[in-house]
Amino acid sequence: MKNNKCKIAIASDHGGWHLKEILKPFLKDLGYGYTDFGTSSEESVDYPDFALALAEAVRTGEYKKGILVCETGLGMSMAANKIPGIRAALCNDIFTAKMSREHNDANILAIGGRIVEEEPAKEIVKIWLQTKFSNASRHKQRIKKIKEIENKFMRSSKG
Ligand code: RB5
Repeated sequence: MKNNKCKIAIASDHGGWHLKEILKPFLKDLGYGYTDFGTSSEESVDYPDFALALAEAVRTGEYKKGILVCETGLGMSMAANKIPGIRAALCNDIFTAKMSREHNDANILAIGGRIVEEEPAKEIVKIWLQTKFSNASRHKQRIKKIKEIENKFMRSSKG
């Protein structure tokens, strides 16, 4: 049977590495392929490097969705949201994960590897990947306004 599920980009820093390694086989179980953008151990690294690499790959459309893990999810989401076209949602609970897709059409999920336990983290990832954007005009309008803010502060709208 053809697998129509999109390939997911996943990355972490050292603080998120453990959870990333748990989420990788879980993505496979759910039927998703993935590309691991690093890091590859618990050796200390700088989270913006990994957020940038993954977010650029989402911005270009190479990946429709990405998952970033650091200790809290904060640094990863902050860094990723600097890239135009990225809507990274820090979701350490299921309700936020669902809403970030339905209302905000988030294209990156950031999660705190030292905040959320393994099983709830899997549930957050599952809900986030399976929830569709509502497509309601009010939500489209609000996302358009986010884009307008990006455009206002960008020297060029080209990558
Ligand atoms: C690393 O020590 C930690 O600061 C990082 O994983 C992340 O939580 C930053 O927001």
